[in-house]
Amino acid sequence: MDLNEAGRELRRLRQELERHNHLYYVRDAPELSDAEYDQMFRLLNDIEARFPNLVTPDSPSQRVGSTPASQFAQVRHRTPMLSLQNAMNEDEVRAFDERIRRFLGRTEEIEYVIEPKFDGLSAELVYENGVLSVGATRGDGTTGEDVTANLRTIRAIPLRLAAPAEPADLFGPPPVPPLLEVRGEVYMPVAGFQQLNQQREARGEAVFANPRNAAAGGLRQLDSRISAARPLHFFAYATGAVDGLELSSQWGLLAALRKLGFPVTDLARRVKGIEAVIREYRRLGDLRESLPFEIDGTVVKVDSFADQRKLGEVSRSPRWAIAFKFPPRREVTRVLRIVEQVGRTGVLTPVAELQPVKVAGVMVARATLHNEDELRRKDVRAGDLVEVQRAGDVIPEVVRVRLDSRSPDSTPYSMVTVCPSCHGPVVREEGETARRCVNSSCPAQLREHLIHFGSKRAMDIEHLGDRLADQLVERGLVKDVADVFSLRFEDVASLDRMAARSARNLLDAIESSKTRPLARLLTALGIRHVGDVLAHALASRFMTMQAIEAAATTSIIEEVGDPLAEVDDVGPVVARCIRDWFGTEANRSLLRRLEIAGLCMTHQKGEVEADPRFAGKVFVFTGTLSTMTREAAQAMVLARGGKAAGSVSGKTDFVVSGIDAGSKLDKARDLGVTVLTEDEFREMVA
Ligand code: IVH
Repeated sequence: MDLNEAGRELRRLRQELERHNHLYYVRDAPELSDAEYDQMFRLLNDIEARFPNLVTPDSPSQRVGSTPASQFAQVRHRTPMLSLQNAMNEDEVRAFDERIRRFLGRTEEIEYVIEPKFDGLSAELVYENGVLSVGATRGDGTTGEDVTANLRTIRAIPLRLAAPAEPADLFGPPPVPPLLEVRGEVYMPVAGFQQLNQQREARGEAVFANPRNAAAGGLRQLDSRISAARPLHFFAYATGAVDGLELSSQWGLLAALRKLGFPVTDLARRVKGIEAVIREYRRLGDLRESLPFEIDGTVVKVDSFADQRKLGEVSRSPRWAIAFKFPPRREVTRVLRIVEQVGRTGVLTPVAELQPVKVAGVMVARATLHNEDELRRKDVRAGDLVEVQRAGDVIPEVVRVRLDSRSPDSTPYSMVTVCPSCHGPVVREEGETARRCVNSSCPAQLREHLIHFGSKRAMDIEHLGDRLADQLVERGLVKDVADVFSLRFEDVASLDRMAARSARNLLDAIESSKTRPLARLLTALGIRHVGDVLAHALASRFMTMQAIEAAATTSIIEEVGDPLAEVDDVGPVVARCIRDWFGTEANRSLLRRLEIAGLCMTHQKGEVEADPRFAGKVFVFTGTLSTMTREAAQAMVLARGGKAAGSVSGKTDFVVSGIDAGSKLDKARDLGVTVLTEDEFREMVA
C-alpha cells in the first residue's frame, strides 16, 4: 500500500467508522455487530501505525484518550455562556411569559420551545471548517477549560460535521459552515452511573453521589484515558458563535444540529402560549423517572431568534429563557421509630428511622428531624406514614406526615430527658433550639469528638474513623482525646479486625500527627465556634498555645481591652466560648497531657512566612473544584497567610470559581472582585 492508497483507505474507514458511531451512539440503531466494528477499527489502527503522518485529529482513533496533561489550558468563549434564571412553580413561569409579552409589546401568544433540563454540565464544541478543533467547559461563562481530549472520547460527539451528499440536498445537512460553536450538556446515563459506582465500590474507591458529579469528574480528568473509560454522553441544545449557517429559531437550530450529526433530544416540543408550556412541563415530569438520564426540570425558550435578540439579557442570564425546575423528589414511607443522636458537642438531634425507601435513586433509611421545635411542629410519630425528600445530595428530611393514615392510638413523641448514651442529664438552655447532654465524658460525645479530632481538617490521623472510634470508646481504651497518644500496640492489636500490620500503621499515624501545627490542634480540640479558619487566626496572632491560654484566662482589663477580640472574626459570643473552654480545669489538664505526649504547641514559622500574594487576602471558593477538595484549597490559602471566607463581601479579594459556580460568582462580578479559575489558583499556589 502506498501513501496515496493509505490516505484514501483511511478517509474511507474514518467516514465509515464515524457513521457507525453515529448510528450506535446517537441514533441508537446500529448496523454493525461489535465484532465487525472492532475489526474495522483495527484496520484503521494498523494503517495509521504504518503511516503515522496520516493521523488526523478527527480520526476515531483519537477517541481513546492520550497521555495526561499537567493542567488544562484556558479557552475564552467567543460569546459568553450564560446561565438561566429559575422558576420554581407555575406562577413564576406565567410571570416570565408576562414579562416577555410586556417587553415585546405583544398580546398574542408567544411560541416557545420547551426542552428537558439535563442534569450534567455544559460544554462548548468548536468546529472549524467542519472539524472539531476545541472543546471547553463553561468555566465562569467567559473563560472555560480546554477539555478537547476528554470530549473527543465521547462517542456521541461528532469529530467532523456531517456534510450534504449533494450541495443542493434540501433534506440533508446544511453545507459545512466555516465556524460553528455547538453548546450542550455532557451527562452520564443512569445505567452507566450505577455500573461505574459498582465497579468503584468493588475496588474500594469512593462512589459518586449522583450522575452529575460523576460526569463532572469524568470530563475534568487531566488524563483523558480516564475520561474515555467513563460512560459519558452528550446532548446539543444551543450554539455560540456561528459563521455560515442561517438560523432563525430554536426549533430550527435543534433540527439543524440533528442533521449535522449531533445528538439532540426528541423530548423537546414547540408550543404556543404559556399554558401549553405548563402542560408539556407536566408531561416531562411524568416521564422523568422512566428516562435513562437525569433531568432536573425543563428549559423554556422563546422560539424566534429575532425576539430573543430584542429581549437580550440581564445579569448574565437571557431574558428569553428560564429553567422551570421540578420540585425535589419525595417518597412516602413509614417511621419505624424516633431516636436521638448525640453529637460532638452533646447536642441531641432527633432522627427518624425509616422503612428503607428509594428516593431519587438512593436508599434512605434515616432522615433528620433537625431539632425539638421542628419535631413538635411536624408532629412526627413512630408508625406514621411520612413524605421524605432528598434535594441534591443533602441529608434526607421528613417533609410532612400523612395525617389521614395515622393510627388513632399513636402518641406524640416525647424527647428524652436523659442522654441515650450516658444517661446523664439533658438541658435546654434559654434561647437555644438544641437540647444537649452536659456530661463531658459521655461516650457518644467522646466518639464524635475522637472522629473529629482525627479528621483531615484537624489532626489528620489516618485510620481513625467511625468504627475504630466506636471500639476505642466501648472498650474504655480512650476516655478523652489525650488517651489516643498513650495507646499501646497490645491495646490496638486486640481490637476487632485489626491485624498487626494495621495496628502498627495506626500507631505510626498517631505518632506523626504530633507534629501538626498549632492551628490544627486548636481545630481538633472542638472548641465551640472555633473552626479551622478561626483556629488559624488565633494561632498566627498568639503563636503558642500558652499565649492563647493566657489571653483566654486573664481577666479583661478595661484599659487594655480584650486581646481575644483583636483577632479577626472573634466577636463576643466566640470569645465567650473560648474563655469557657480554657476556663474549664479539665480542659487545661487535657492540654498539659497533650503537651507531655509531645504534641506541637506552637505556630510554625514558614506557615506564616506569608506569601505576599496571599498574606491577609480573603479567598472565597464557589462551585466544585476538579483537582482538589474545597477544604484542601482553603488549607493552601491559610498556609500561605491568606484567609478563607464562606461568602462574598466587600472584604473579599479573590473568588475562585469551580464547575457550576453559583450566586457567589455573580456577586463577585457585581462587586468587581477578582475571579480566578481553578487553574489560575493552582498557578498561584504552585
Ligand atoms: S440553554 C442561555 N438548554 O442549564 C441558556 N441549558 O442554568 C443556555 N442545561 O449551564 C443554556 N439542559 O448546563 C439550555 N436544554 C437545555 C439545558 C440547559 C441543561 C443547563 C446548562 C446551563 C444551565 C443553565
